[in-house]
Amino acid sequence: MAPMNYRTLGRTGLKVSEIGFGAWGIGQKQWVGAKDEDSVAALERAIALGLNFVDTALAYGDGHSEQVVGRVARKHAGKLLVATKIPPKNRLWPARRDIPVKEVFPSDHVVSCTETSLRNLGLETIDLQQFHVWTDEFAGQGDWLSALEKLKQQGKIRFFGISLGEHTPDNGLRLVASGLVDAVQVIYNIFDPSPGEKLFPLCRKLGVGVLARVPLDEGGLTGRVTPATVFPDGDFRNSYFSGDRKRQVFERVQRIAADLGIGLEGMPEAALRFALSHPAVSTVIPGMRSVRNAEANCGIADGRGLPEEQLRKLESHRWERNFYVN
Ligand SMILES: NC(=O)c1ccc[n+]([C@@H]2O[C@H](COP(=O)([O-])OP(=O)(O)OC[C@H]3O[C@@H](n4cnc5c(N)ncnc54)[C@H](OP(=O)(O)O)[C@@H]3O)[C@@H](O)[C@H]2O)c1
Repeated sequence: MAPMNYRTLGRTGLKVSEIGFGAWGIGQKQWVGAKDEDSVAALERAIALGLNFVDTALAYGDGHSEQVVGRVARKHAGKLLVATKIPPKNRLWPARRDIPVKEVFPSDHVVSCTETSLRNLGLETIDLQQFHVWTDEFAGQGDWLSALEKLKQQGKIRFFGISLGEHTPDNGLRLVASGLVDAVQVIYNIFDPSPGEKLFPLCRKLGVGVLARVPLDEGGLTGRVTPATVFPDGDFRNSYFSGDRKRQVFERVQRIAADLGIGLEGMPEAALRFALSHPAVSTVIPGMRSVRNAEANCGIADGRGLPEEQLRKLESHRWERNFYVN
């Protein structure tokens, strides 16, 4: 297995592993079925293979994901970079343009959520604190910026980022241009390469780090979601892959694999390498709840993206849709 490659997270200067650990699935609420001992084993194996970046959120299992991440992070003191997120105070995902930021991220909420996350993690500092929703209407409004500055001065957070809403990468351009944000997190995968058009060039120009999330389309791009797949009761994927969507995804993924000249089993690697192919991307953060997936994913972080010819073929597999709504 090739050693893990590292990239720089924009102007933060942090060296982050090309594959980071997406910790939504280990929160045990929206994703059902993870056992803590398996989640810890997957994260430990990934760290042994060179992974040094985790993305979690206060909302993932109401702090459970942070608690599991914290258990591991404390064992590897100072070696694992932790990113988490502040949920919107009004609990509305995605952010709405007509609701002012003072109802979503008022300064007391920014501070109290950060303190709760620090307690969940059992750490003194969060390396990257992110807003879990964003709309560019928030830029220049409210008192959130002074709260973040104070948290930075107190050493409770090091850097600030935003997680952009689903399939709306341009809704962060104004904030990125303002120079106030250190990193952005955005959906970037074979089906939705749209951040490559405006957001990524701007991030590169201004030295803003990029976390490429949902690189496997919530599992769809792995080739393992078939029309016969059954998700556990209460699992978010029952809604994401509702109705006829499993069949639609599976047929598309079979066509992608055929076009690339690979078997379906090569799809997780192809999908991750696709996301790593863009030079603006600092780290790609697949969800992985087993040692098997941690080994497979960390094993491909050798600095190589996909060849130009394959990237060109993938352009025709772009798919505009939003499975996060029914
Ligand atoms: N609004 C936001 O800010 C937001 C929203 C969504 C996600 N995120 C972040 O992005 C991360 C990644 O997204 P995600 O976890 O939702 O979806 P994802 O990474 O696109 O897909 C995760 C799925 O892929 C499977 N998988 C991973 N590696 C595999 C491999 N090598 N072979 C076969 N299957 C594999 C996982 O299997 P298992 O089920 O077996 O683990 C899981 O079912 C999240 O964990 C979270 O940190 C942020």
